[in-house]
Order: sequence, then structure tokens, then C-alpha cells
Amino acid sequence: MPQLPPQRTDGPYRIAVVCLGNICRSPVAALVLTARIEEAGLDDRVVVDSAGTADWHRGQPMDSRAAESLRSADYDPSAHRARHFDRTWPERYDLILAMDTNNLADLTPLVEEGADHPPRLRLFRDFDPVDPGTDVPDPYFGGEEGFADVLDMVERTSAALVEALQRELVDA
Ligand code: 4NP
Repeated sequence: MPQLPPQRTDGPYRIAVVCLGNICRSPVAALVLTARIEEAGLDDRVVVDSAGTADWHRGQPMDSRAAESLRSADYDPSAHRARHFDRTWPERYDLILAMDTNNLADLTPLVEEGADHPPRLRLFRDFDPVDPGTDVPDPYFGGEEGFADVLDMVERTSAALVEALQRELVDA
């Protein structure tokens, strides 16, 4: 399991999860990760936001297929409105998690890394206990099964990430 970068902001540890449009993968990841954080009692220690590298869908609700996959697993997707990861975002976050390698490449020029700590920018699935270091595949142009797969990988990765947060932020 990768080490987390240290906290650089005041207040809670801030995580941004980022995909392309911020209507499918990163809003699902933010909602599920936030639910795991609340269950672990870490909601005053860690906050999660999501955004897209593209601004095409800014202000829009979640993709209806992503929302349906969440509702069928008892999450409430209704509050989400898409946001754009613009140049003001990087400085505000301790950990920035890209959903796929294209998102990672788009974010790399925006995120300054210090030499002496684990990277602030990495793949979300670097924390996947089953198949680490791989993409959360873009389900937008595919069928509903793609959204079920996204939810599966996001649920197990979020659980592992919360264990790392508990270990490194609270128990350490
Ligand atoms: P997301 O999915 O990056 O997971 O939100 C996409 C949403 C929209 C588009 C592509 C991917 N699009 O081409 O509009």
C-alpha cells in the first residue's frame, strides 16, 4: 500500500478525486469514499471533493447511469454538481487522485511535488488491494455493466484508502 503525502493545509486532510467529465467516475469515488470516511468516524479529519479535467459538464448532475448504480447500492447521488479542476485546485489539496492515466497526465503539469515526501498526485487505484496501479476505466461510452464495475473497484479501493488514512493520520 503506498504511503500518503503529509498534510499541507490547515484543518482536515483534503483529498480531490479527478476524472475527465466529473459526471461518472470521480463523483462515484467521492461519494463512496466519503461514506467510508463517515463510517470510520474520520469525517472531521478528512474531506473529499471531486472535479473533472474538462469543464464540459460544469454544473450538471451525475450521469444518470452512474446515479442509478449508486442508488441501487443505497448511496444518494442527488447533491452532485460537476466542477472543473482549474488552476486554483492543486494548492488546496493534500492528495490528488486521478481516475486513469490520461487524467494523471493532464494533472501532472498542474501539481507541484516536493522532493522529500510521497507524491501528492497519483492514481486512485494505486490503493486498490486487488489490482493496484491500474485505471478506473471510463464507462461513459459503454453499457451499464461498466458502471457496476466502476462501483466495485471504487468500493474496495475506498475501504483500503480509509484504512491507510486511519493508520497514517490517526494512529501514527
Ligand atoms: P467521467 O466520464 O470522466 O468518468 O466523468 C466521462 C464523462 C463525459 C465524457 C467522457 C467521460 N464526455 O466525453 O463528455
